[in-house]
Amino acid sequence: MGEPLTSQPMPRGLALGSESIFSPVSPFAASIAHLFHVTLVVCAVIGIGVTAAIAYSLVAFRARGDGREPPQRNGNFKLEVFWTAVPIAIVTWLLAMSIDTMTRADPPANRAPDLIVVAHQWWWEVRYRSGVLTANEIHIPMGVPLLVRLESADVIHDFWIPQLARKMDAIPGHPNFLWISADAPGSYGGTCAEYCGAQHAWMRLLVIAQQPSDFDAWQAEQLAPASVPLAEAATRGERTFRDEACGGCHAISGRGFEGRVAPDLTHLASRSTLGAGATDYTRKDLTTWLRDPQVIKPGCHMPDFKLSDAKVDDLVAYLEELR
Ligand code: CUA
Repeated sequence: MGEPLTSQPMPRGLALGSESIFSPVSPFAASIAHLFHVTLVVCAVIGIGVTAAIAYSLVAFRARGDGREPPQRNGNFKLEVFWTAVPIAIVTWLLAMSIDTMTRADPPANRAPDLIVVAHQWWWEVRYRSGVLTANEIHIPMGVPLLVRLESADVIHDFWIPQLARKMDAIPGHPNFLWISADAPGSYGGTCAEYCGAQHAWMRLLVIAQQPSDFDAWQAEQLAPASVPLAEAATRGERTFRDEACGGCHAISGRGFEGRVAPDLTHLASRSTLGAGATDYTRKDLTTWLRDPQVIKPGCHMPDFKLSDAKVDDLVAYLEELR
């Protein structure tokens, strides 16, 4: 009977968007799913055929207890040509399909990227050509293929949104490119698919595909700087934010905070998750996070500032205004 490690809530796992490779929502992901299904069927037929041949041989040529060998045969030219040619034909066909899928799933990066995604331990920085800066949540207009330039700020990560695109490594010093798109509006879950340290598992992201007009509205909101805090608690919260040097890591546009090593908080309260998917974004979770981020995400680079409850409440009031 172990003692619970903590009395505070642990990450409960997010119901992010759906994220099955079996329900692709873009031509890129669909081409990969198609190749998988064809290969699965071909291999299943071969597997069943080989198993049946082995089972037949075990029975037909079993020892019969009379001490005699079954009749021996040496070489069969026709059979050998058949079982050499057919596998070569199958493998060549699968190779041709694979090459075709690679060109469909990974078209060349032939123009300036629409967004730059920078992987960090353990969150995703997202920069749009329009100037929008966000984290862990990528809004896209549905039906429009977007070119992503993928970078890493520290170690190797891997950017994967199973329903929308192939996987792609984020490698320090070596930008990679990939295309994403969504044929239907909705929320699509993504994840880091390369072990990158303690919180690799909580390096999730959410892609929200919207009607182009909704996307434009979102983008306009995100471009607006934060305004002067309204509530009294929020004003105190901003002072705490400044006094505790939160701005050394986090940026809040328009308020003089320009840190670039942690998520931009200008529109934090418009997001649906905290800690790169470790928990939902709610007032309660934000409070838990600020009391001690290490409870929700042990090992993350935001330390426990040992803030008083009053300071935490003020900070929450401030951050809640950042819509
Ligand atoms: Cu980043 Cu695993």
